[in-house]
Amino acid sequence: MMAIIVRGVVVLAGAAVVVGSSAVDIPSAGLEVRQDANSACPPSYSTRNGMNFTTYCNQNNPFNDAMEPFLVGTMQECMDRCSRYWGADEGCFGIVWREDQNCWIRNSSVTLDTLEPDQGIHFAMVEAKDMEPLDTDCPAADLSTHTLDTSGDDIGYTLHCGKDISGDFDSCWDGFPCFGLDYLDGKFRSFYHATSVEDCLHNCIKEHPLCRAVVYNPDLKMGFANCWLKDGFKDFLSPGPNDKRILHSAAITNLDRIDTTCPTDTKYTSQNKAQFDIQCGQTSSGTNLTSVHRQNITSCMDACANSDRGCVGVIFDSTLQDGFRNCYLQNTTNVLSKEPSATYAALSGTSSASPGQGGNNPSTPSSSSSSKAWIAGPVVGGILAIAILAAAIIWWRRRKAKTAALEGYATAPPYSPYHGAQMQAAPSELGGDTARELAATEHKPVKYAHGGSTGEAPQELPT
Ligand SMILES: *[C@@H]1O[C@H](CO)[C@@H](O)[C@H](O)[C@H]1NC(C)=O
Ligand SMILES: *[C@@H]1O[C@H](CO)[C@@H](O)[C@H](O)[C@H]1NC(C)=O
Ligand SMILES: *[C@@H]1O[C@H](CO)[C@@H](O)[C@H](O)[C@H]1NC(C)=O
Ligand SMILES: *[C@@H]1O[C@H](CO)[C@@H](O)[C@H](O)[C@H]1NC(C)=O
Ligand SMILES: *[C@@H]1O[C@H](CO)[C@@H](O)[C@H](O)[C@H]1NC(C)=O
Repeated sequence: MMAIIVRGVVVLAGAAVVVGSSAVDIPSAGLEVRQDANSACPPSYSTRNGMNFTTYCNQNNPFNDAMEPFLVGTMQECMDRCSRYWGADEGCFGIVWREDQNCWIRNSSVTLDTLEPDQGIHFAMVEAKDMEPLDTDCPAADLSTHTLDTSGDDIGYTLHCGKDISGDFDSCWDGFPCFGLDYLDGKFRSFYHATSVEDCLHNCIKEHPLCRAVVYNPDLKMGFANCWLKDGFKDFLSPGPNDKRILHSAAITNLDRIDTTCPTDTKYTSQNKAQFDIQCGQTSSGTNLTSVHRQNITSCMDACANSDRGCVGVIFDSTLQDGFRNCYLQNTTNVLSKEPSATYAALSGTSSASPGQGGNNPSTPSSSSSSKAWIAGPVVGGILAIAILAAAIIWWRRRKAKTAALEGYATAPPYSPYHGAQMQAAPSELGGDTARELAATEHKPVKYAHGGSTGEAPQELPT
């Protein structure tokens, strides 16, 4: 399997160079691949969203095209496209990938009866059960409200039975490569496969930026990627008379109230003696290890202190604009920049007791009082200056928080208020109108094959 992955990356790199000069040329990388057909065609494959294939290497399976062929760097990527294919009224049931990097999508008429030996052409069949329709009943009454079953997080949603979400609430999500409307007629926009509305919502809440609603298609006529994420919602409409798909929508209408106030102390010591310096109104461009949902900066720092993955700081986003998982654990420190809605806290060390001991220490009192934190902190001249600065920031931020708190998050507005708002530089994948434009430049197959700007292609490969 490892050999395949390595091979895949090599092919991708080769493809990008060639395709860069002309998208029409048949890339010469294909010739190299041909010498080693076994790594070009794996015996089986599971896509990132969980669709399973059986492959028939060096066998063609002509006809039953669902669309025109297109270029992708590897057979695995062709199968990944299949798992996201969204046809007029059915999904993808198999693929043919030729070593000149052409990828064909097969419709539901495909059978094994038409296989024919052909060197350098590989067929892959979707496991039949993957495309079987799921329970199409709406899980509860139309317009009923529910609480999403999560560990402690408070998320309420409203069900819209038999309804689609109208309007353009698509976004580029961080969790998977983005193909907008401009990439092959928007046939690969969706990604997640879900087996229920709730399952679909669980995909929604772990995404960045903030996902606000989902459209779920249980009969899989939309394709295997039957869980469509939305960054907002307005109208819920029944599908048109020619639309045979069964769709149920769910809108997140209630979110945790997030503490927007900046703590008075600029220092915090966790139960397991990790010490943090807190800077309100700041964000860091450090590397995000992971993100979790937290209601306040204190429990966000606790998450860092209890992490065993080398967390050195956190960004706490009280607005949830970048996602429900609003506490970002980072393993590198980097340049800080202003971000009014964020709080940055850096691990500054551990107090004497038990450094490096993960988890809770039961003998420690439950919380650190402010005076204790101050004693723990070094009283150095430089720090004093920072403290004065911090005090000024706190004052300013409190004033802001007072107004911000009024909006609250108890009842979430139907439309993400931060739609289109950008947090500094890292922009491309963030939602808003830019997504449309970026689709043209960022989401071409060649770009994707090259790994986009952030090395996404390897993610699509099995890990
Ligand atoms: C599959 O495609 C073939 C030709 O491309 C077409 O004749 C056939 O009707 C299609 N099958 C379905 C189920 O759409
Ligand atoms: C594909 O196979 C994996 C591993 O066997 C399994 O966990 C997954 O559920 C399968 N996908 C589907 C849609 O059945
Ligand atoms: C880390 O997460 C923050 C908050 O969402 C985001 O602004 C930042 O761009 C992320 N950093 C990187 C390097 O992706
Ligand atoms: C902070 O948030 C956590 C969960 O994220 C919650 O359990 C705790 O009660 C909150 N603390 C305060 C003081 O609000
Ligand atoms: C930080 O985490 C990322 C992702 O897990 C990892 O690739 C990187 O090597 C880590 N960096 C450090 C300095 O530990």
